[in-house]
Amino acid sequence: MKTIPISLLGSGAMGAELLLHAERYALPVASVFDINTPFLEENITKKFSVAIDFTLPHLVLNHIKLAAKKGINVVIGTTGWAEHKEEIRSIINDSGIGVVYGSNFSIGMQITFRAVKELATLLNYVDEYDVAIHEYHHTNKVDSPSGTGLSLASILIDSIDRKKNIERNTVQEKIAKDSLHITSTRLGSVVGKHIVTADSSFDQIEIIHNAKTRTGFALGALRAARWIDGKKGFYNFEDIFEETLQVND
Ligand SMILES: NC(=O)c1ccc[n+]([C@@H]2O[C@H](COP(=O)([O-])OP(=O)(O)OC[C@H]3O[C@@H](n4cnc5c(N)ncnc54)[C@H](O)[C@@H]3O)[C@@H](O)[C@H]2O)c1
Repeated sequence: MKTIPISLLGSGAMGAELLLHAERYALPVASVFDINTPFLEENITKKFSVAIDFTLPHLVLNHIKLAAKKGINVVIGTTGWAEHKEEIRSIINDSGIGVVYGSNFSIGMQITFRAVKELATLLNYVDEYDVAIHEYHHTNKVDSPSGTGLSLASILIDSIDRKKNIERNTVQEKIAKDSLHITSTRLGSVVGKHIVTADSSFDQIEIIHNAKTRTGFALGALRAARWIDGKKGFYNFEDIFEETLQVND
């Protein structure tokens, strides 16, 4: 395996997990940037090809601006920056760097996305079922609903014609039939649990993904880092996930 030096943006829960597994993918960590040593031009002292960002939503745009200036490819694991997506896309296109982003880098969740897509395609033909999403995360999470929950909601909305919009707040009165309800609980140290429920008067179908540790996210992000090395363009991990499976474990 070719050795590709990387840097980590963020040394929190995900940064620590990436550090544990990076060597296994021949991705030596040249530098770690965080709140004490932010990802600023003057703090870049070593060479690396790919940066992996697990920081905070409001930092992502500036991180991409600097990566574009320095010709560094990026894996964005941070969630909650959708408002900057188009600006980020044009920076990437103008600069010619490569960036892969994903609401959830876990292989298990990518498989779950595909199962939910299949469920949604079939539910579109079966009016008897209503559908909703609930997600649990630890109490340090800053965004709600989770990026992954919103990705699941998009999959359902895109395939089920009778669901027209996403209702992300607690509903205090009767919910509109064409709203897809997504709700969140913040609880203790839950790594991330997502439940998609389809309910009819005669049965209930649940698809549940329950992350036990952060390792699954880290391994997916490291595979994505190997995959994006040397590429140009803006990619959603969901679209290239199958290709990253060819990166050896
Ligand atoms: N896409 C995925 O698969 C996935 C999985 C887990 C977490 N996440 C997301 O990743 C992000 C980080 O999660 P986490 O659990 O590691 O969070 P965390 O709070 O443990 O870590 C955040 C990190 O950001 C750093 N930081 C804060 N201010 C900074 C600054 N000004 N410059 C540089 N770094 C700064 C902190 O030092 C810390 O290391 C969140 O957005 C979370 O939703 C995504």
